[in-house]
Amino acid sequence: MRIPIVAGNWKMNGSASFANEMCQQINAFAADLDVEVVLSPPSVYLAQVQLAAENYSTAAQNVHFAAAGAYTGEVSTAMLRDVGCGYVLIGHSERRAMFAEIQEVLAKKLAAAVEAKLLPILCVGETLEQRQQGQAFAVVKQQLLSAISGLDITADQIVVAYEPIWAIGTGETASPEQAQEMHSYIRTVLAEQISVAMAAKTRILYGGSVNAETASQLFSQPDIDGGLVGGASLKIEDFKNICSAAASQ
Ligand code: 13P
Repeated sequence: MRIPIVAGNWKMNGSASFANEMCQQINAFAADLDVEVVLSPPSVYLAQVQLAAENYSTAAQNVHFAAAGAYTGEVSTAMLRDVGCGYVLIGHSERRAMFAEIQEVLAKKLAAAVEAKLLPILCVGETLEQRQQGQAFAVVKQQLLSAISGLDITADQIVVAYEPIWAIGTGETASPEQAQEMHSYIRTVLAEQISVAMAAKTRILYGGSVNAETASQLFSQPDIDGGLVGGASLKIEDFKNICSAAASQ
């Protein structure tokens, strides 16, 4: 009942020619796939990747919450919509940690995205230290609630991505059981905060060292609705295999 999403977050990687190759390959590959494939290139390539899109969507890696103005280096939700972009990553742990994106800012970004009818992929996840101290669930709940409280959203207005920080770029994937446990918990929090119906319909993606080998087992968990893929999304064959794994669940 929930159509899975596989989103490739290129982070600050790629080139115009890589983007071109990826677009062609994914257009051909994803034609009959029961998965929403999303490509998230660096912003400078976003319009190019979106213009070529036939069988995938695009996600921006960041957005500003203001409508327009003197914000050097930023892009607005309207600009993303203008080039046809449908999704935006919000609260990726790299932006929280390296670009000082505090929760108040993320809540504003989320509200701006919803208002502009851009589908936010809200990223949440704990550090290794927080997990070891038994705080993983409390941290994720807090991140989730601080972003969505005050918003009256439906399941087609948000996607959540659980990305444990200790699993990002480390080669250490969360086990399917660990991921499932957190995904189920996120659904419970959404049910309490918004509604049971909304929680049941919301797509919750897993991210953190997803690769062609681990994807199947992760995606077969009942509350995992696809993945947010970093490193493996830069390898076209691996990315296709990950998309296929989501389609075959
Ligand atoms: P990796 O797949 O490289 O671990 O990155 C995950 C991620 O941060 C996706 O947003």
